[in-house]
Amino acid sequence: MKFFLDTANLDELKRGANWGIVDGVTTNPTLIAREGRPLDEQVRMICDIVDGDISAEVVATEYSAMLPEGRRLAKIHKNIVVKCPLTRDGIKATSTLSKEGIRVNVTLCFTAGQALLAAKAGAYFISPFVGRLDDIGYTGMDLIRSITQIYRNYGFKTQVLAASLRSPTHVIDAAQAGAHIGTMPFKVLDMLFNHPLTDKGLEQFLKDYAKVFQETPVAG
Ligand code: E4P
Repeated sequence: MKFFLDTANLDELKRGANWGIVDGVTTNPTLIAREGRPLDEQVRMICDIVDGDISAEVVATEYSAMLPEGRRLAKIHKNIVVKCPLTRDGIKATSTLSKEGIRVNVTLCFTAGQALLAAKAGAYFISPFVGRLDDIGYTGMDLIRSITQIYRNYGFKTQVLAASLRSPTHVIDAAQAGAHIGTMPFKVLDMLFNHPLTDKGLEQFLKDYAKVFQETPVAG
């Protein structure tokens, strides 16, 4: 499973990239706006930090405007994946951009039927939003299971990018469901490290070692 960070914050991206386990980044207009820099500029800076697929979302809503915007974003860096919303215009733009060789991440997917449309349009990624389905009383993870099953049935090449993951459990469940990628906020990636028995075990190991060798070894 690939790990993407779902943030446009440069400090978080630097910290995550430093661990050597971040394979890419997803952004959306909300995350970009939070950082206060123009989209193209922010995305270019992100590409300098993380060497992997970087999703940049179009803000145009009509096909005719999505195309030039998608082409412009794709030119920012070879790692850019253009993000299009799962609307009629977005799917049409996905189809056109994909035929031009531009990789597209279709976002705001909430049903398996929508995921089928994205795959048929040649999407590189489909982004089903787990947490937002949980928010309205559904089991978002069921959607990841349905999509991975359907894509397998037909050999679709579109990769399932489990999005809107809000906890380490979401990440683990998405991996079990066969998602190719999980995108998560920095906080969730950081939480994946934690277990009290890891801390307790390390403390004990170091104490036992120091007792015999009369020195406190430096923890790695
Ligand atoms: C994915 O590409 C989206 O940016 C993101 O995962 C949405 O997450 P949220 O529902 O926590 O805002």
